[in-house]
Amino acid sequence: MTADDILTFYETIADRLDSLTAADAGEVPALVALLGGPTGRVLDIGAGAGRFTFALAAAGWQVTAIDFSPAMLAVAEARAQALGLAQRTAFVQCDLRRTRALPHGPYDAAIMIGVLYHIHEPDEQRRLIGLIAQALKPGGRLFFDVETSALGGWRREQPGVPVAGLGPGLEIAVVGFEDTRRGHHKARLSLKRTRDGETAERQVEIDCAWHDVKEMAELLRGHGLSLDGVHRGWGGKEADGVLLVAEKCP
Ligand SMILES: C[S@@+](CC[C@H](N)C(=O)[O-])C[C@H]1O[C@@H](n2cnc3c(N)ncnc32)[C@H](O)[C@@H]1O
Repeated sequence: MTADDILTFYETIADRLDSLTAADAGEVPALVALLGGPTGRVLDIGAGAGRFTFALAAAGWQVTAIDFSPAMLAVAEARAQALGLAQRTAFVQCDLRRTRALPHGPYDAAIMIGVLYHIHEPDEQRRLIGLIAQALKPGGRLFFDVETSALGGWRREQPGVPVAGLGPGLEIAVVGFEDTRRGHHKARLSLKRTRDGETAERQVEIDCAWHDVKEMAELLRGHGLSLDGVHRGWGGKEADGVLLVAEKCP
């Protein structure tokens, strides 16, 4: 597995991420409702094509969306224009594993959905949580989801069977799994993309990290964030993922 495999994956599917997350559509209104009001500045970490970015901007938030994939950011920026939400949104390229700073805050809230399982190394996770804590105002809240067992993520897909509903010209199928080390498993995916009549096929290895909620609470506490809420089955889906809500201590 290399970081490039994860980037290659998201670069390849940038215009189809919404199809991939369509089954989780309930997450968007659920998260907007949990953030509630009053609105303010929110950081959307690993924003992808912007499904949360635009729902929050439409609800009155000023959103800074960050992602490491240029293709993802291009899709999101085009949507911001098309939706008339460019004034309420800003897009910044940033690799969460390497960055030493997040876009300048302070923020009233931060969200990070479908991202932490890509941040594998404990020191990368610690540094990222520390940067998020620094970026929040006192009393600011962080909403993020984690997988809580090796049964989550790509393991929910049946090996060899293409993921349904991605539309023409894109085929993704799991071709293998490997339990690598504690809290990690690796999914090998076959990616087939057809553009202008040409089909490119490649395999990528996606290492997925899963987390223990108690350990996560300790990590948060170490950075001045208290874990205030654990939402299982959030957005109405049955899954091993949970949504955690943490607050920066005043
Ligand atoms: C599963 S998608 C979730 C996107 C969005 N949060 C959503 O729920 O629709 C994961 C996103 O995290 C981004 N990502 C993964 N690793 C990253 C990294 N190291 N730095 C920045 N972004 C990353 C990917 O490019 C992708 O857009």
